[in-house]
Amino acid sequence: MVALVRYHQVSRGTSLFVMFNKLSLLAFTLCALSAHGQLVGTYETETHPSLSWQRCTRSGCQNVSGSIVLDSNWRWVHSKSGYTNCYTGNTWDKTLCPDNKSCATNCALEGASYSSTYGITTSGNALTLKFIQPNSNGKNIGSRVYLMASESKYQMFKLLNQEITFDVDVSKLPCGLNGAVYFSAMDEDGGMSRFSTNKAGAKYGTGYCDSQCPRDIKFINGEGNAEGWEPSSNDSNAGNGGYGTCCNEMDIWEANLISTAYTPHPCEGTQSSRCSGSACGGQNNRYGSICDPDGCDFNSFRMGDKSFYGPGLTVNTNSKFTIVTQFLTDTGTSSGTLKEIRRLYVQNGRVIQNSKVSIPGMAAHDSITTQFCNEAKAAFGDRDSFGQHGGMGGISKSMTAGMVFVLSIWDDHTANMLWLDSNYPTDADPNKPGIARGTCPTSSGVPAEVESSAANAQVVYSNIKFGDIGSTYSGTA
Ligand SMILES: *[C@@H]1O[C@H](CO)[C@@H](O)[C@H](O)[C@H]1NC(C)=O
Ligand SMILES: *[C@@H]1O[C@H](CO)[C@@H](O)[C@H](O)[C@H]1NC(C)=O
Ligand SMILES: *[C@@H]1O[C@H](CO)[C@@H](O)[C@H](O)[C@H]1NC(C)=O
Repeated sequence: MVALVRYHQVSRGTSLFVMFNKLSLLAFTLCALSAHGQLVGTYETETHPSLSWQRCTRSGCQNVSGSIVLDSNWRWVHSKSGYTNCYTGNTWDKTLCPDNKSCATNCALEGASYSSTYGITTSGNALTLKFIQPNSNGKNIGSRVYLMASESKYQMFKLLNQEITFDVDVSKLPCGLNGAVYFSAMDEDGGMSRFSTNKAGAKYGTGYCDSQCPRDIKFINGEGNAEGWEPSSNDSNAGNGGYGTCCNEMDIWEANLISTAYTPHPCEGTQSSRCSGSACGGQNNRYGSICDPDGCDFNSFRMGDKSFYGPGLTVNTNSKFTIVTQFLTDTGTSSGTLKEIRRLYVQNGRVIQNSKVSIPGMAAHDSITTQFCNEAKAAFGDRDSFGQHGGMGGISKSMTAGMVFVLSIWDDHTANMLWLDSNYPTDADPNKPGIARGTCPTSSGVPAEVESSAANAQVVYSNIKFGDIGSTYSGTA
């Protein structure tokens, strides 16, 4: 039997069950909504928490006053002129959402109380995402936010011949959790101009897509994903609709205290694109979408260096450190094609070179290149869906067009995050190259367990800098 390689189930929208206390909402003015389409609610003003970051060139860095927005999937979605939930737990209201289109005309996305409902706070250049936030409706689990350029536009990053750097504190992020930072090829306006029935847009965090072509997204292309929605059997906050939404994804950072990986996932095309049913890939048809669900991952532990990343190791995850990721092109300019993705770390003023691959059949690579990917797929016996979907050149197209910066924290109802931090597949010989990815037990990461045992987990991202190669960090060798 061929064991499924099932890593990189990225950022499922573990959604909040929000049933607001009606009395507390009577204080808000109820405005009549005349627009038709995926609407916005008026009970809670949407105020984006500010987050400053820096844009750098070789002559120095400048502050940019940005902000973040919560993804729409986490928001209260209710009848356009009342308090009735359109979506509760993991099911749609059959009256408000009898079909996809009327779901969008009947339902409104509400503003978010970032700190008290979702456990999302910012201070200066730092963003803290709590894993669990108790609130008046029960609790919120995980979150996903995007960096904004303005009230209604995401900040777009053109990555070629540039580097992105930030500090992270994963010391409170145990086995089974993932503090993820990545770029997705979402629309700058959240899809408002391409899909006229989307009246909410980036201001309300719409338009998410990734290389797993997620089907747990409640609104896609300005329509509800209500028809054919199946509640998850093991996640009381999620389900899968008939549609999914695919796009190029560059995972800069998928990590916890024990393991880390960075991974490009190319798709055909540059923009987000809606898929239907098994053409979204997933459960029984993993490789059936236009995207590469596996990616070409560089996880130091999986690549043979077991003493590089972790508590007390070369990159000591007990305290804060800096991650630098560089996107080098064949021409050395932003008009070239992506040829190499390099990683550096900085901790306590010292620049730490990435670990080197130590796997039979592979050269001692310390970065992601086509050659690294080819050798890894061969050495591990993995299917090369990365190459089949365009490889480095495939994801390069979206990097030219611009991508949205995503920051999240999540647990994994599909594979307990074992693809990141344990032996996976769990029934394979852990001595076989590619199976061991970290020291977490194969029994770890069960969502019901981590949601109670790691209720105080959180991740802090800070000091985000973007710019010319070599301009965003310093340190001694
Ligand atoms: C940039 O912002 C940081 C806080 O995020 C602040 O400490 C620093 O003084 C600012 N620099 C400039 C040049 O405004
Ligand atoms: C609604 O979406 C489902 C997939 O979720 C699709 O099969 C169906 O055709 C859509 N219905 C309409 C009326 O567009
Ligand atoms: C949870 O259910 C989904 C299907 O809804 C399934 O794919 C997944 O394997 C299940 N996860 C676990 C850990 O059993």
